[in-house]
Amino acid sequence: MKRKILITGGAGFIGSHVVRLFTTQYPNYHIINLDKLTYAGNLENLKDVENLENYKFIKGDIVDSDFINTLFDKYDFDGVIHLAAESHVDRSITNPMDFIMTNVVGTVNLLNAAKNNWGNGKNKLFYHVSTDEVYGSLGDTGYFLEDTPYDPKSPYSASKASSDHFVRAYGNTFSLPYVISNCSNNYGPNQFPEKLLPLFINNIIENRELPVYGDGKFTRDWLYVLDHAIAIDKIFHKGKIGDTYNIGGFNEWKNIDLIELLCEKMDAALNRERGTSKKLITFIKDRPGHDKRYAIDANKIKNELGWEPSLQFDEGLSKTIDWYLNNKSWINNVTSGEYQKYYKQQYK
Ligand code: NAD
Ligand code: TYD
Repeated sequence: MKRKILITGGAGFIGSHVVRLFTTQYPNYHIINLDKLTYAGNLENLKDVENLENYKFIKGDIVDSDFINTLFDKYDFDGVIHLAAESHVDRSITNPMDFIMTNVVGTVNLLNAAKNNWGNGKNKLFYHVSTDEVYGSLGDTGYFLEDTPYDPKSPYSASKASSDHFVRAYGNTFSLPYVISNCSNNYGPNQFPEKLLPLFINNIIENRELPVYGDGKFTRDWLYVLDHAIAIDKIFHKGKIGDTYNIGGFNEWKNIDLIELLCEKMDAALNRERGTSKKLITFIKDRPGHDKRYAIDANKIKNELGWEPSLQFDEGLSKTIDWYLNNKSWINNVTSGEYQKYYKQQYK
């Protein structure tokens, strides 16, 4: 019998890389990708795997509990890798309710369905993919560890913290077998161009301003998306039930330093005179409640599961730039329609 794995949010940025990895690495698994196809979900991300025999796409909303219960009854999943979420901090500031519905209510719907279908839970696993933003904001020093107290500060991180708490509560109360990982900022191909790197790459191509929030001295730890997918694979197969793993790139950058590096690389890639892209940098009003610094201590996953980032940042950034330059039609397709209105409103 093939192991049946439900991946939620598989048409999104990270989810599409996880779906590709699992469908190609594990021909003996049956991968079911459940996705609502919001503005952030695009089946174009999965063109190369859509005809694989061990892959099936189902369009649906995790907020719809009847639909989720029927799906679990029908497929009797052996495992869930839950990535479906509203994921953009700026959108959580303008529209928090979408985040509560999908990230909290949707997650609890999945937990209920798993609890009701999994009996004693033997050989089952609920994997919740979460973010380091649940730990709040760091000062100039220190790192987030797995036991750092939760202190979410944006509606996005509050909704992810809440869903993490529900996963642990279901583990404690109903013995639901689970693992959680909390990862730092991802970058790479297929990221929707509202997040920092793809937005700025696209703006540089289009000669548009680069809107830097506040003084630009906010720090993030960047990880190539495929390295995150590989970490998820390791944790899903070798992680300890009931444990949490922090995933990070050992790769901190102040936004402004990262943006200047990006500008240099884009000038070279576009054969523009050195310094051209930097002129597009525009400091704008800060994001409300902007977290100062995130930095992950990823030594637990390194020591216990043997995972480390495989790609150096310089190489990852170059690969990402190349991908966006070679996939202009992808950018055009995903940013047509509703996104245009959002962009104009966000950066008016
Ligand atoms: P994304 O926004 O690119 O993709 C989210 C996917 O979920 C989309 O395909 C969307 O259609 C789907 N979705 C949204 N609401 C849904 C619903 N109600 N029902 C079913 N599907 C729905 O997000 P991402 O950046 O790929 O992030 C994936 C997960 O990883 C999220 O849980 C996020 O919190 C977490 N995470 C992201 C990062 C990052 O840097 N992007 C870092 C750490 C953790
Ligand atoms: P983002 O990609 O939205 O990820 P997150 O807020 O989840 O870390 O933003 C990364 C950093 O870049 C963050 O400090 C906010 C900043 N930023 C800008 O300065 N301008 C922008 O237009 C965006 C989208 C982000």
